[in-house]
Amino acid sequence: DSIRDLYQEVVFDHNRNPRNFRVMDDANRKIEGFNPLCGDRITLYVKVDAGVIEDVSFQGSGCAISTASASLMTEIVRGQTEAEAEHLFETFHRITTGQDGDAVNLEEIGKLAVLAGVRAYPARVKCATLAWHSLQAALKNEGETISTE
Ligand code: FES
Ligand code: FES
Repeated sequence: DSIRDLYQEVVFDHNRNPRNFRVMDDANRKIEGFNPLCGDRITLYVKVDAGVIEDVSFQGSGCAISTASASLMTEIVRGQTEAEAEHLFETFHRITTGQDGDAVNLEEIGKLAVLAGVRAYPARVKCATLAWHSLQAALKNEGETISTE
């Protein structure tokens, strides 16, 4: 179907050419996200100033879905306030758990909708949520290693 096609296209593109894939020297939050199911790790760098996510980048070698999801996330949350990012987490969680129903307008949330394709591959949800959970933890705690469990 078309959502699945779009999903595969975006995952392919962002995995091949990940955005914001770099070390950030002036980050004020850095966190290592870990997927216990496969052992993959990403390092997430965030620069927060006065409650605004000024910059976000990542490094690491995960699978295509985790890389694409991290790449998309960095594009989506840059420039957002921490409160806006928190709202996105909730939306993303509803999508990945299939609870979006009519409540989430997929058109409105744009690229995030692509991640809804994860529902077609439920076993890969932890790959798609790795970067998001890392960001959530980075905004709350500094410099911790987190598990996506
Ligand atoms: Fe659902 Fe985090 S996105 S538990
Ligand atoms: Fe490891 Fe996807 S298989 S993050």
